[in-house]
Amino acid sequence: MLRSALLNVMVQAARKAGRSLTRDFGEVERLQVSVKGPGNFVSAADHRAEEILQAELAKARPGYGFIGEEGGRREGTDATQTWIVDPLDGTTNFLHGIPQFAVSIALEREGTIVAGVVYNPATDELFTGERGKGAFLNDQRLRVAARRRLADAVIACGLPPRSRGDHGLNHREVTAAQEEVAALRRFGAAALDLAWVAAGRFDGYWERHLSAWDVAAGLLLVREAGGFVTDADGGENMLTQGDIVAGNEIIHRELLRLLKIAAKA
Ligand code: IPD
Ligand code: CA
Ligand code: CA
Repeated sequence: MLRSALLNVMVQAARKAGRSLTRDFGEVERLQVSVKGPGNFVSAADHRAEEILQAELAKARPGYGFIGEEGGRREGTDATQTWIVDPLDGTTNFLHGIPQFAVSIALEREGTIVAGVVYNPATDELFTGERGKGAFLNDQRLRVAARRRLADAVIACGLPPRSRGDHGLNHREVTAAQEEVAALRRFGAAALDLAWVAAGRFDGYWERHLSAWDVAAGLLLVREAGGFVTDADGGENMLTQGDIVAGNEIIHRELLRLLKIAAKA
């Protein structure tokens, strides 16, 4: 497949960080049985992956800014272009030896996400997208699922951990969804949840309490696959407000309706 120079840079960086994560994932599986567990080791793996991404992206595009979850922040000489990076999305899965995690890289240009790469090194699935040019899984063009009824839809969600979020609201939302959808899923890596909506595996997805690096690449993939993405109020503040709703036009609208019911309950 012929990719743009920009996507080539992003893919190369994602694959390099992915190789580092794959090596560390092998070690994590071994550490499960140790008394201390793999906690510190995983945090080091996460930082290693971010350092690789920062170095690779800076080498190819020296002027761009960089925002990474693990604290990597670099102002660029070109203030209009910023990488938004999650070196390891799905840390809890990674920590537990569950192969559902990803490297996520987005490019923001003048406030708009223009390119996204989400790469799961455990499955070697590479999701790429560029504004106006479509979304792909490896070489295959993606299209969101066409289901029109929640009753037929498999919907993914995310639930915040013990220490974060409004658990009462989360439970009301899950209950509202459970009463109308075919099935609910919670896979634990927001970037992949969005990529899987783009790929038509999930009919829709919502989550609250996220950060820009969790969703920046994935939301571009969904839009380029013909889907709709907004915050939970139907607005455009997904990167700053922390909530996100995605699906085809109908399922997206239906999910917004469910969230409204739950907020009032
Ligand atoms: C997390 C994952 C998870 C979501 C969390 C995120 P991390 O990112 O995307 O699915 O539910 O809220 O923080 O911490 O694994 O990079
Ligand atoms: Ca994340
Ligand atoms: Ca992360």
